[in-house]
Amino acid sequence: MNIKQIEDKYFMRTYKRSNLVVKKAKNQFVWDENGKRYLDFSSGISVCNVGHCNTIVIKAAKKQLNNFTHISNLYYAPSQIKFGEVLAKRTFPGAKVFLSNSGAEANECAIKLARKWGFLNPSQTGNRYEIICFNNSFHGRTIATLSATGQKKFHEYLVPLQKEFVFAEFGNINSVKRFINDKTVAVIIEPVQGEGGIVPSDKKFLKELRTVCCENNLLLIFDEIQCGVGRTGKFYAFENYGVEPDIVTLAKSIANGFPLGATVAGKKCAEVFTYNDHGSTFGGNPVSCAAASAVLKIINKKFLNNTLKIARYFRVNLENLKKKYPIIREVRGLGLMLGIDLTVNGKDIVNYCMDKKLIINCTHDTVLRFLPPLIITKKDIDFSMKILEEALKCQTTK
Ligand SMILES: Cc1ncc(COP(=O)(O)O)c(C=O)c1O
Repeated sequence: MNIKQIEDKYFMRTYKRSNLVVKKAKNQFVWDENGKRYLDFSSGISVCNVGHCNTIVIKAAKKQLNNFTHISNLYYAPSQIKFGEVLAKRTFPGAKVFLSNSGAEANECAIKLARKWGFLNPSQTGNRYEIICFNNSFHGRTIATLSATGQKKFHEYLVPLQKEFVFAEFGNINSVKRFINDKTVAVIIEPVQGEGGIVPSDKKFLKELRTVCCENNLLLIFDEIQCGVGRTGKFYAFENYGVEPDIVTLAKSIANGFPLGATVAGKKCAEVFTYNDHGSTFGGNPVSCAAASAVLKIINKKFLNNTLKIARYFRVNLENLKKKYPIIREVRGLGLMLGIDLTVNGKDIVNYCMDKKLIINCTHDTVLRFLPPLIITKKDIDFSMKILEEALKCQTTK
């Protein structure tokens, strides 16, 4: 049996994989089993932000691997503690972190933290536990994070989910206000929706959301699992908006491919958890944390300026395509988190690009999603535009 047949026989059918069988990956490139090289404009869905097998990240991880791979969180792992310190300092004054293994876990932690904070800060009628979420959002696949996810297609067969999550219209502050009652404790939002089709929040809306949360004593939680860690040209996407949350969650790219989730809480709720309120056997793995410290070192001001420069070049190119091809409805995004919304399903274009050795992804059926490693060059963009244009031409003449 070949690798695809083995997968088909022994794996649950949760992933619709393309035919690509990966042999190795380096920087912005991936090689298949036959040695064919692909340009990766997906980065494992915004995971390998500083490039596949980044030399500095691998060196840091190897150093930790040679010391130890795991020690219970009942003891101190210096690489974990050092990473937590740098991340907390880079986030907000008085911040504290909880480290887990994935995005869903980082959000679960944020939800639990908000619940306990609501218990400690009740309204006149008692405990507060309701969380306002948004239509079209995505926060993970566990039961609580699915309950917070505003896309019905992920809920199929799993209802009833938890009722303590309500859904406001993304971008509409009056819709948020209508959901606030004496049980409301927090609002959770992706500053740039990812799985929902690359939809950046409006600046005015995010500022109003901050004000409404302050006025009603609610925690504001930003899920930056897809849009954080330099993706938008700032370390946190919220830096583009001049709005700070009370809690921010990270995962995906924080350790550039090693599993790690982080929940960072500001002063308002950093001290809420006490011993045994939360925990994880693998959370904050020492090797992942060593890799994550390297990521934090790499993503400095110069790196981010370069990301912004290359992102502008990419965007101009996509806007030019839009002028030529009416099947492009809209070009959207922030920094190197870009999408083009089509009037048709994007599947055929993704397959065409793959045949021509360009890896892109489609989300929300019609949105071509571009999440390249932040180290791509103008030459890479020129190559991708040539292929994308061919693919768009094929679709247009169909
Ligand atoms: C915004 C956002 N939140 C949460 C998650 C869940 O992360 P994970 O798959 O690591 O659990 C994702 C994953 O795509 C995401 O994009």
